[in-house]
Amino acid sequence: MTSPSKICRLGILISGRGSNMIALADAVEQGRIPGSEIAFVICDQPGAAGLARAAERGFRTLVIERGDRTREEHEQEIVAALGARQINLVCLAGYMRLVSHYFIDAYRGRILNIHPSLLPAFPGLAAQRQALDHGAKWSGCTVHFVDETLDGGPIVAQSIVPVLEDDSEETLSARILEQEHLLYPDAVALIVSGEYEVVGRRVLKR
Ligand code: GRF
Repeated sequence: MTSPSKICRLGILISGRGSNMIALADAVEQGRIPGSEIAFVICDQPGAAGLARAAERGFRTLVIERGDRTREEHEQEIVAALGARQINLVCLAGYMRLVSHYFIDAYRGRILNIHPSLLPAFPGLAAQRQALDHGAKWSGCTVHFVDETLDGGPIVAQSIVPVLEDDSEETLSARILEQEHLLYPDAVALIVSGEYEVVGRRVLKR
């Protein structure tokens, strides 16, 4: 992501409670994502709980609401803000918006997302509910590169969890979330290290 002597500046985009952002922050602090720092947190929801948590951690935060702008106008402001803070890698962490060509072109191969299912199963909203409704026996979470498809970019890492007979959407979500908090830092560490290559759709460790 950066030359060996340089720190990789992470920008995190959130919309909600920000627990994955905190997991990344803890990992950076504990040296589990060597050569990185959290340089910026952007949120599109002014009241999001994650904003307060980011501020408590001393992160620079910015609220960029979409308002009545087009998606691209909104993203122009986000991309400009990320550029001004020299962000090298963007981590979507519960950022509840689709990202357009404009954003992807500006940060191609440098945007990661975490999704609460074993992709390509159950992309989109309410992935845990989808897994339950489908009768899946196993689910999990996926970290992937963001491309133009919905939750469809190359997969960096996955963890699996069982779906139990008495699971509700809440209990399954909680079990998956626990894994998300372990998986996302490991996946970000791999990408920051640069020790990988993308061959077709496959992200391979070097
Ligand atoms: C997580 O389940 C993540 O996989 C999904 O949205 C949720 C965000 O949770 N994209 P949090 O805001 O990180 O707590």
